[in-house]
Amino acid sequence: MARPRAFIFDLDGVLTDTAQLHFIAWRELAEGLGLPLDAAFNEELKGVSRTESLERILALGTRRYTPAEKVAMAERKNAAYVRLLERMTPADLLPGALAALQAARAAGCRVALASASRNAATVLGHLGIADAFDHVVDANLVTHSKPDPEVFLAAAEALAVDPADCVGIEDAVAGVRAVRAAGMFALGVGDARVLSEADQVIADLHGFIPSNYLRVGSRLRWVSSP
Ligand code: G6P
Ligand code: MG
Repeated sequence: MARPRAFIFDLDGVLTDTAQLHFIAWRELAEGLGLPLDAAFNEELKGVSRTESLERILALGTRRYTPAEKVAMAERKNAAYVRLLERMTPADLLPGALAALQAARAAGCRVALASASRNAATVLGHLGIADAFDHVVDANLVTHSKPDPEVFLAAAEALAVDPADCVGIEDAVAGVRAVRAAGMFALGVGDARVLSEADQVIADLHGFIPSNYLRVGSRLRWVSSP
């Protein structure tokens, strides 16, 4: 029986809660287009790429937009989001996040980031955790968005670790699907009813114990007392 060799963390919603900032920026854009955006709809945008999020918002209305108009809208939203990020500090790390990153390293495992955001490097800088990762893969480096496994597979490849020896840590349904499609153990962080496709769900990263994962046969498993 072997330990996992790498832990691959999602960023938004796992290490820091940017969902509210994305919501504020998208709502500003949507209101300008006369489209209503509520918090429940925002839930559906978690883990979804910028372009796909815009498409889903525009689908709330009936007007069609040209590709150039869509690019301009996505840029406007991103400028508003990046302005909101300026206020982010290490105090915005989610409960247990820093301890989880340190525990993964202390357990002798590699640590990577697999984010759907093009702003991942900026966010890591504001949070003061850029050094916590052996490798960072973000949306600038991949072609296919979650639930496609590309971002997680790219992280495993960069670490030179077999995906079956990796635990992927996600807060979004699209992200959990990406982890599973990559052949990794899917650790969901958040609501177990929402993340029912994950192999295991914890409420927050205080529940993250790296030594509780063991490879049995071809798959990693969670064991309560290793
Ligand atoms: C994360 C967030 C999504 C966001 C996406 C792209 O997955 O959960 O809400 O749309 O990243 O972020 P970006 O910073 O590139 O617009
Ligand atoms: Mg997320």
